[in-house]
Amino acid sequence: MLILGIESSCDETGVALVRGGDAGTPVLLAHALHSQIEMHQAYGGVVPELASRDHIRRVLPLSDHVLAEAQQALSDVDVVAFTRGPGLAGALLVGAGVACALAAALDRPVLGVHHLEGHLLSPFLSADPPAFPFVALLVSGGHTQLMEVQGVGRYRLLGETIDDAAGEAFDKSAKLMGLGYPGGPALSRLAEQGDASAFKLPRPLLHSGNLDFSFAGLKTAVLTQARKLGEALESRKADLAAATEAAIVEVLVKKSLAALVQTGLRRLVVAGGVGANRPLRAQLNAACAARGVRVHYPELHLCTDNGAMIAMAAAMRLQAGIQPAQRSYAFDVKPRWPLDALAIS
Ligand code: KG4
Ligand code: ZN
Repeated sequence: MLILGIESSCDETGVALVRGGDAGTPVLLAHALHSQIEMHQAYGGVVPELASRDHIRRVLPLSDHVLAEAQQALSDVDVVAFTRGPGLAGALLVGAGVACALAAALDRPVLGVHHLEGHLLSPFLSADPPAFPFVALLVSGGHTQLMEVQGVGRYRLLGETIDDAAGEAFDKSAKLMGLGYPGGPALSRLAEQGDASAFKLPRPLLHSGNLDFSFAGLKTAVLTQARKLGEALESRKADLAAATEAAIVEVLVKKSLAALVQTGLRRLVVAGGVGANRPLRAQLNAACAARGVRVHYPELHLCTDNGAMIAMAAAMRLQAGIQPAQRSYAFDVKPRWPLDALAIS
C-alpha cells in the first residue's frame, strides 16, 4: 500500500511516500522538504499568512518530485495522509485541502494525522527503530511533553510544560542574543565555543517532584543577564549561549530519567526539533547507558518537521487497525489538539 504524506503545519512543507499499511515495518520510498526559514527570518518568527501562501506554492511541485524519485505515478497512491493538527490553521488548511482534493480526484481515501504523533513515531524510520513500550520525550518548537507510549495510539501524558516549550526557550533566548530565527541550532553552534559555568541560570521545576516543565523563567533570566552585560554581551555571547543550553538540557535529561523511573520502562524515544540538539543527545546517551536504558532518536534530518513522519504515522495507524482511511473529503483541521486526546485505551 502506497501512502502519500503531506505536512504543512508550520514553516516547512514536507511530502513523502511510504510503502506500508500491511505486515512489516513501513518503508520510506522518498521524501522532499521545503523550509520557509529564510522567508520568515526577516520578521524574526513565522508569519502565518506568508506560511500558508508558500505551502500552496510548494506542495504540488514537492509531490511531483517525490513521486518521480520513487518512480511511482500519482495514480499508484492508495491513501493520502495529511497533518490535521496541531499547528497554524491557515497552513494546516493548505495541506488538508490539497490532500483531500488529490484523494477525491483519485477516488482514494484520506487520513488526517496528529503532527506530534508523527514526531513520536518518526524514530521507527531510523536504522535503529524502537520497540513498544517506551517513554517519549517530545521536544519541539511548540511542545514539551513526556509520554508513556504502550503502542500506536496508546499514549499517556506524564508531564508537560506549563508555559514555554523547550524549543521556544532556545528560540527566544537566541532572539535576545540577536542570533536570528529559528534560534535553536544557531544558539547551539555558538554554545560550542562558550563556557556554560560562566553564568548561573535557573533550572525551573527541576526539583518539583513531578514531570512538568517550565521555561518562561529561564528566558527572563537570560534577558536579565543580557541587559546587565549591555555592550559586553557581544564578547560574552558564547558563554551565555552555553549556559542557556546547559540549563535547558539538564532539565530535559533529569525529567526524562525521572519518567523512566516512575514508569519502570527501560526505553526512551526522543523526538521533535530539539531532539537534534547535540549536548542533549550526548547527555541522554551517557545517562541511559549508565542505567541500561535504550535510547532512540529519529535520523537527524527527520527530527524537524517533514512529510515522512506523517506518512509513517498514517501507515502505522492503518497497520494497527485503529484509524481507517476515509472516502469523505469534507476536511477540518485542529490547530489545538492534545496528543493524549488520541488515546485508544
Ligand atoms: O519539531 P520542530 O521542527 O517544529 C515544531 O513542531 O515545533 O521543532 C522546531 C524547534 C525550534 O524551536 C528549533 O529552534 C529547535 O526545534 N531546534 C533545535 C535544534 N534544531 C532545531 N534546538 C536546539 N538545538 C538544535 N540543534
Ligand atoms: Zn513539529
